[in-house]
Amino acid sequence: RRLVVLVSGSGTNLQALLDEIAATGAEAYGAEVVAVGADREGIEGLARAERAGLPTFVCKVKDHPTREEWDAALAEAVAAHEPDLVVSAGFMKIVGKEFLARFGGRFVNTHPALLPSFPGAHGVRDALAYGAKVTGCTVHFVDDGVDTGPIIAQGVVEVRDEDDESALHERIKDVERRLLVEVVGLLARNGYRIEGRKVVIQ
Ligand code: GRF
Repeated sequence: RRLVVLVSGSGTNLQALLDEIAATGAEAYGAEVVAVGADREGIEGLARAERAGLPTFVCKVKDHPTREEWDAALAEAVAAHEPDLVVSAGFMKIVGKEFLARFGGRFVNTHPALLPSFPGAHGVRDALAYGAKVTGCTVHFVDDGVDTGPIIAQGVVEVRDEDDESALHERIKDVERRLLVEVVGLLARNGYRIEGRKVVIQ
């Protein structure tokens, strides 16, 4: 299976996938990363891809006259690598109709909270501010909402009294990286069906 991974930041989830595939072998894992895309230049996630010798592309919203044209350009850039599965690993843009028309049902995202709680760009901060005692991470298929698609897997992380946002996010990312690697491998090796809100991995 061919994976295209989309990043916007440090790319440690991407790195977890690359490390697992290097350690396990693409055959045994069931997938290989064929390209990495981003919505901005100069991020560690792109540097990690370049160090791994992978093709990269950057699709910036401000380079396009409309959001729809950015969405179509992103879909084109991804499609050029003929992915079986697209993985948003910290990609911080909401894709639109064109992208979902082409990749819906094979586009997964990882979110650092237990959806449906705390969706959006500040899930860790929101859980902390709310006083949640447990939070965690969610790997889900992307649909036309924000962090609302069918849930594939979740991991629970306790919130500690002394936590600030970055400490809690780091602890969540330890769980999230393992969850993402496990889920992507399962989807790639076993195949799956989406039935309403249920994801059935064969
Ligand atoms: C992850 O926790 C992801 O869920 C959130 O941003 C973080 C990205 O981390 N959207 P990285 O870029 O993979 O290190």
